[in-house]
Parts: sequence; C-alpha cells; structure tokens
Amino acid sequence: MFAVGIETSCDETCSAIVRDKIVVSSATVSSLKYHKKYGGIIPEIATRNHLKFIDKVFSLSLQEAGITSKQIGVIGVTHRPGLVGALVVGLNFAKALSVALGKPFLGINHLYAHLFAPFLDLKLKRIPFPFVGLVVSGGHTELFLVKDFDSIQTLGKTRDDACGEVFDKVARVFGLGYPGGVYIDKIFSLKDKDSFEFKCPRIGFDFSFSGIKTALIYKKMSLEKNRPLDKKTRVRILSSFQESVVTALVQSTIEAAKKSKVQHIVCGGGVTANSRLRQVFKEKCTQEKIGLFLPPRQYATDNAAMVAGLTFYLYNNKKKVSPLSLQAKGN
Ligand code: KG4
Ligand code: ZN
Repeated sequence: MFAVGIETSCDETCSAIVRDKIVVSSATVSSLKYHKKYGGIIPEIATRNHLKFIDKVFSLSLQEAGITSKQIGVIGVTHRPGLVGALVVGLNFAKALSVALGKPFLGINHLYAHLFAPFLDLKLKRIPFPFVGLVVSGGHTELFLVKDFDSIQTLGKTRDDACGEVFDKVARVFGLGYPGGVYIDKIFSLKDKDSFEFKCPRIGFDFSFSGIKTALIYKKMSLEKNRPLDKKTRVRILSSFQESVVTALVQSTIEAAKKSKVQHIVCGGGVTANSRLRQVFKEKCTQEKIGLFLPPRQYATDNAAMVAGLTFYLYNNKKKVSPLSLQAKGN
C-alpha cells in the first residue's frame, strides 16, 4: 500500500511516498534562499512559497514513484506544530486530495514524525518499543518515553530556546550563515572543544539553552574589547559551545533511558545531522549497551518521507484516521 506524506510546517514544501516503510519518492522545494538574508525564517515568505509549489511538488513525488494518484491508499499531513499559515497550506491540500481521491486522511504531529525517520527503509520486523526519543530541531528540544506511536509521554523539554534555534542565533552573532548548525558543525575542532567552559544547565530532564547563548555573546564582546577576534579564537569558542550542547543532550537522553529502564534511544530533528552529536551518541550508547537509532542524514532535517512513514504505520498498524474538520495548530 502506498502512503503519501505532505510536510509544510516551516520553509520546506515536501511530498513523499512510501510503500510499507520503504521510501519510493521524496520531493522537496525549499524557500531557504529567500530567508537567508534575515538570518531566520519569515513565516509570510514560507507560506507564499508553499502555495506556489505544493501541487508541483506532489506531482513530482508521484512521477518519481512511478504511480498515479489512484494508487494512493492513505494521505498523511503535518498539522502540528509549526508556522500556522504554513501548516494550513499543506493541511488543506491534503484534505482536498482526500476528498478528490476518496481516500482516508490523517493528521501527523511533526515531532513524532521526526522520531519515525530512523526507521525509514529499515526492514525491521518490529519497531523496538519502548524507547526514549529525543527530538532536537529548530523549534523543539524534547525528550519522550515512547511506548508506541500512539502512546507517547513527554519526559522533558527546553524551558527557553530550542537547541537548533540557539545554533542559529549563535551563528548569526558570529557572522556565519543560516542555518547556523550546519556552519558550526563544519567549524568544530575536536582539539579545541574544551577551550572555554560553557555550561548548559539541565533541570531534571528539562533543558535550558538561553544562558549559554548569552554567555557566548558576553565572552565574544569581552575578547573583542581591544581587537577583533582572530579565526583561531572563534573556532575555540564555537567548538566549546557545541561540545557543551552535545554533552547536555547525550547525558540527559541516556539518563532518561536508564531511569525509564528502556534499552533503546531514538533521535530525530535537524540537529541530529550534527557530526559530533552523532559520534558522541554512538560512543556513549555503545559503552552503556543501549541500542541507538539515528536518522539517515537526509531524513534528519524536515522532509515528507518521515510523515509518509508514520502515516503508513498509524493507518496500517493502528487503523488511525482523522476527521476533515482537523485544524492546524502552531506552537
Ligand atoms: O528539523 P528541522 O529541519 O526543522 C525544524 O523542525 O525546526 O531543524 C532545523 C534546525 C536548524 O536550527 C538548524 O540549524 C539545525 O536544525 N541543524 C543543525 C545541523 N543541520 C541542521 N544543527 C547542528 N548541526 C547540524 N549539522
Ligand atoms: Zn522539523
């Protein structure tokens, strides 16, 4: 059975098709280049671009999959959380498709879709429930206890900025491009990771990232009093920043797994594309004998394959459908 996923929660207009959990097509048009000069996403621009491209992206995903719309069995769409105007475009498109094709429709939570991404294309007989899930993206940093994809409990979340948002803000202060995480990831130097002591507080299983962001800005200002920062010092500051964030994420997730007595950790969201985060997670989970599932890099950042995959799972295994009255919910 073919499931379609539609994703328009932020700046990417995406449509993908899966057959079972295998991705047969995944099409994306990004409006990122129109946002770059602002150093962040402008909701109005994102929404207008979704409207312009959604039908073309959907057609492209059908074409790539080599199927016609009549072969679609179920239609899933991200309906929360995200930029509300952007979500409405994808949601209404999916509803219209459902009515036109006479096929069931399902609203998907974007955060849970990120947690499904590591299982795409894996021929696992069974998803290893229960697991602790970490979602780290531009809008969210949350830890979950996942007993099944319709039984998810929040263990902790950020009390202020999201992790990816802090990568983006810090990168902007240091004159790097957007999305900031990509640039900081590239600059990171292992031998400089402990040059400065920046702390990322953890409160139970909650995170806080605004303090480290402020500490970094003050450090930069104080070092710049007499002369501009040289490249080496910038690398030392940014590497120390990334290391502190990575340490906080990995430590909390492993502690949550131990406390919840689960054997597996599953991670998702744009920040899980980070090379150092992936490396530290692998090392620590091997040490602790915890099974680790990371998304393939192309499914770490926003995509529709994860939405299609979770749609397939919830419809096929749990018989879930949504009413056409379903509304979009922002943050
Ligand atoms: O999941 P995502 O594509 O969109 C949201 O749902 O928010 O995540 C985007 C975030 C951005 O903040 C971006 O800076 C971050 O993911 N990101 C990274 C890396 N690639 C993207 N952060 C750290 N290292 C990376 N390699
Ligand atoms: Zn996302």
